[in-house]
Order: sequence, then structure tokens, then C-alpha cells
Amino acid sequence: MYNYTDEQLQSMKKVEATRAERVNNLFPRMSAEEKSQVLKENHPDYIDNAYETLKVGPNKGDKVLHELADLLQGKSRVLGKDIDLSNPDYDVDVLVIGGGGAGSSAAITAHANGANVMMVTKLRIGDANTMMAEGGIQAADKPNDSPAIHYLDAYGGGHFAAKPELLKMLVSEAPDAIKWLNELGVMFDKAPDGTMITTHGGGTSRKRMHACKDYSGAEIMRTLRDEVLNRQIPVVDFTSAIEIIKDENGRACGAVLLNMETNEILIAKAKTVILATGGAGRLHYQGFPTSNHYGATADGLVLAYRAGAKLLYADTLQYHPTGAAEPTQIFGALVTEKVRSLGAQLVNKDGNAFVYSLETRDVTASTIIRECKQRNNGVKTTDGEGVWLDTPIIEILNGEGTIEKRIPAMLRMFGKYGIDIRKEPILVYPTLHYQNGGIEINSDCQSTVENLFVAGEAVGGIHGRNRLMGNSLLDIIVFGRDAGRSASEKAKSVTVGEMNLNHVNSFANELKNAGINPTTLSPKLLPNYKRKDM
Ligand code: FUM
Repeated sequence: MYNYTDEQLQSMKKVEATRAERVNNLFPRMSAEEKSQVLKENHPDYIDNAYETLKVGPNKGDKVLHELADLLQGKSRVLGKDIDLSNPDYDVDVLVIGGGGAGSSAAITAHANGANVMMVTKLRIGDANTMMAEGGIQAADKPNDSPAIHYLDAYGGGHFAAKPELLKMLVSEAPDAIKWLNELGVMFDKAPDGTMITTHGGGTSRKRMHACKDYSGAEIMRTLRDEVLNRQIPVVDFTSAIEIIKDENGRACGAVLLNMETNEILIAKAKTVILATGGAGRLHYQGFPTSNHYGATADGLVLAYRAGAKLLYADTLQYHPTGAAEPTQIFGALVTEKVRSLGAQLVNKDGNAFVYSLETRDVTASTIIRECKQRNNGVKTTDGEGVWLDTPIIEILNGEGTIEKRIPAMLRMFGKYGIDIRKEPILVYPTLHYQNGGIEINSDCQSTVENLFVAGEAVGGIHGRNRLMGNSLLDIIVFGRDAGRSASEKAKSVTVGEMNLNHVNSFANELKNAGINPTTLSPKLLPNYKRKDM
């Protein structure tokens, strides 16, 4: 048994006491007005003083969080260094920057299209948010569903802000993405007759979440990594991209790389470049913990921005409603939404439900913050406060054994600390999970810089201002493959002109003219954690 405080134990008893009553009485869904009010009053995206206005670059005048502004307007790591571009260390058709699901899908597809591809990744292939994804991947491939219905769910969930052409690509290419993964060997959950088992996620009107228990991302990443390795696509690991290189025509044509172990600078020349650098959770915006992997530091946004690419919705982040709030060892770790898909309810310190558990993520997270901060209905935890996620209900609703069968990762994650989620509820609080915005792309996955393509979480605009569960594992596959296709096709007709880093100097001058004298080196590459007591 976990060493809960007396206060936590008392509160847990109240949760147990109300359970039977709650099982068949779901909390009502909110009206559009209620949602908009709870968001405005509680969602971290609405905290004005967390933001500042960018003074330079393609998004000058737009507001972004301070932590991102510092990096976008930061100091290039190549300034003052003698960088020789005349004799590249690598010369390829397509350079893929990033070793997660989007980068791997892009590399596989470009390779299948005949390109000479190289992947470069600052950690190892698979050290990525893809690996951390749990709940599943959406695709409308059941008879009662369609890409059009999927579109409507995602468009509404994203506050009608998604770029329509990108969202259309996402939903219409989804069934083929699942088929592709299945054929590559992903072990999806299937019924005895071989059909895929699908569930709901927050904001979905149909059960279209395909999953591999609650290891969906790890299983997908395992398969993609195998495919990259089987194809013998070169992967340069522990090597970061620190600047995009452009040619005399202003087109992206490679990257300056930094070997993370030796600090050696390397030059990669390429006909086209795909940025698939993932998210930003490790910037810990507004002090939030994160569900993200160690390398999620918004590097792609910085590289693209300095090269002149526009960002879209860089001001909006996703705080997953259920990060682990206790024990402290897993503070901020993802408690998959699938737990709520299976029926677990969000309950306050008095054992009362306060939200329909499958509202969209931004709304659900906001109600948890309101319950704790405004209504004083949270439970004190080692690192702050949280609410209960009543997991034992899952077995009441779906039968004994469901938790072990469908969400074994959750059972194991809490079990390590003496918490049996089949018998006890768990404490949760929102955790920084996803970068809704990112680099703007067109339907060829090309940014506003020619020959600079983007895929995965580094893209902005696919989901609008809030993403639904399972549409991220989907977008890394759909846009990874599309970017791989477009970049390899484009590479066939590209002749690289004289390579230069003039844009880096111009950007530094712009900063100076704006009165900014940056000291923060960017991209950040790795978080700078210190021990709490230091
Ligand atoms: O809750 C989850 O399993 C997360 C899924 C996602 O972000 O798509």
C-alpha cells in the first residue's frame, strides 16, 4: 500500500462511498457557453502575463509564451564560430531531422520513393514523444463512421481553427495509415474475428481509437524503427541540428549538426530537408510538469523560425487533464485518456464528480484546475494538488480483468509504488502534453521556406487550437509519409546552389536593431534540470 497522508486517505474513503451511486449516473456534458467560460477562467493559454510579443522574425507582433520567446529570439549556437560549408560531411537527397514517429515515417516513405535519405537525431531513434504515447490512434474505418465525421469531431474540438486542407488530409488518409501500420507489423488490439477493437476518446462521436493496449506509441515506434533499420537508412544519433543551411536562392539545403558527445560540428548537405523534431514539453511552460520525453525542447521551431519560416498558433499548448499527481516519482507522467474511455471518473476531494470525463482535453483540464484553484476541492499532494481518477469503476463497468488486459502500463506504473489501480483511485492533475501550434505548412508539408518540409508535432495548424486524443499518433504517420513523399519527389529536380548561413547573421542583426541582446543559446537541445536542493 502506498504511504498516503491521512488527509488523502480520508478523501479516498469519500470517493469509495460515492462510487456505487456514480456508476450509472454520468455527470452531464457542458454547454458551449459553459465550456467557453471554464476555458477563459482556468486554461493556462488564457494567462496573459505568461506571454510576450515577438519583436523579430516572421511572426513579429504575435504573442508566445516567455519560454518560447526566449528561444525564438535567442542566440544562435553557430554565431562567432568558423563554420566551413565548403566540404560537407554528408551529402544526401533528403535529410530528416528527428528520430521519432514522424521522422521515421518520412524516412521510410522517402526511401521507398528512391531517395538517398539520412536521419539525424539528437538522442537515439525512438527517443521521442511517439514512444510515450499510450492511448491510441484515430481512424474512421468502421461502418458507422467516416472521415467526414472524424473531420467534424476534430474541427469542433480544435475550436474551428484547424487549417481545413490539413485536417482533411489527416482524416481522409487515416484509414490507409492504419492499414500501413498493420501491414508493417503493429500489433493492434483485435477481436477474435480479427477486426480492430476501437474505443472513444474525449470529443469523439464514434469509437475510432485503435490501440495496442496502452503501449500504442511504443508499439508503433518499435515497428517504424525496425523498418528504418531493415531498410538500412543511415541514422546519425546523438547529433543535433543547430541551424538550417540555405542556398543562394534562399532554399533549405542542409543543416549544421552538433555531435552531442564530442561537440564536433558537422555539415549535412541535402536537396530537401524534413524537420520532425517534435514538441516542447521539456520547456515546462508556466512551471507545468510534462508527459514528454527528455528531448522535447521546441528545437524545430527555433531552426525554422531563424530560417524564415512562419509559425502558426505557437501560443497554444495542450495540458493533458490527467498527469500523475502522486507519487512524486512519476509527477506529470501520462495517465492515458483511455482510462477515462474505459469509464474512470474524475472526482473531487469530497468524492463528487465534477465533469463529464470525456469532454475535450482543454475543457477537462480547465475543470480540474477550477476544482483545485477556484473551488478549493482539490486533494493536497507532495508536489501541489490534484483530483481523483476513480479507476476501480472500470472493472465494475467492464468486468474483472479489464484493467490488466486493456491498460497494463497504467497498472504497472502505479503498481511499482504500491498503488493497485483496480482497487484504489489515483491522484491526477494536468500535465504539459502537446504543442498545438508549430511551423505552418501547405498541403505538400512544405513550410514557407522552400525545400524545408515539416511533419509531426513541429507542425502547427492541423488540429487548430486543441487536439483530440489519438490524432497525434495519426498525424505523425499521415504527415510523416506525406512529407517523405513530397520531399523525395521535390529532391528529384533540385540542384543545390551555394550554401550559406547568411540568414543567421541577418537574424542576429534584426535582434540587435530591436534592442535584444540575447544570452540564451538556442535551440535549447536538452533541459537544464537541477536538483531541487541545489
Ligand atoms: O491520453 C493519451 O493516451 C494520449 C493520447 C494522445 O495524446 O493522443
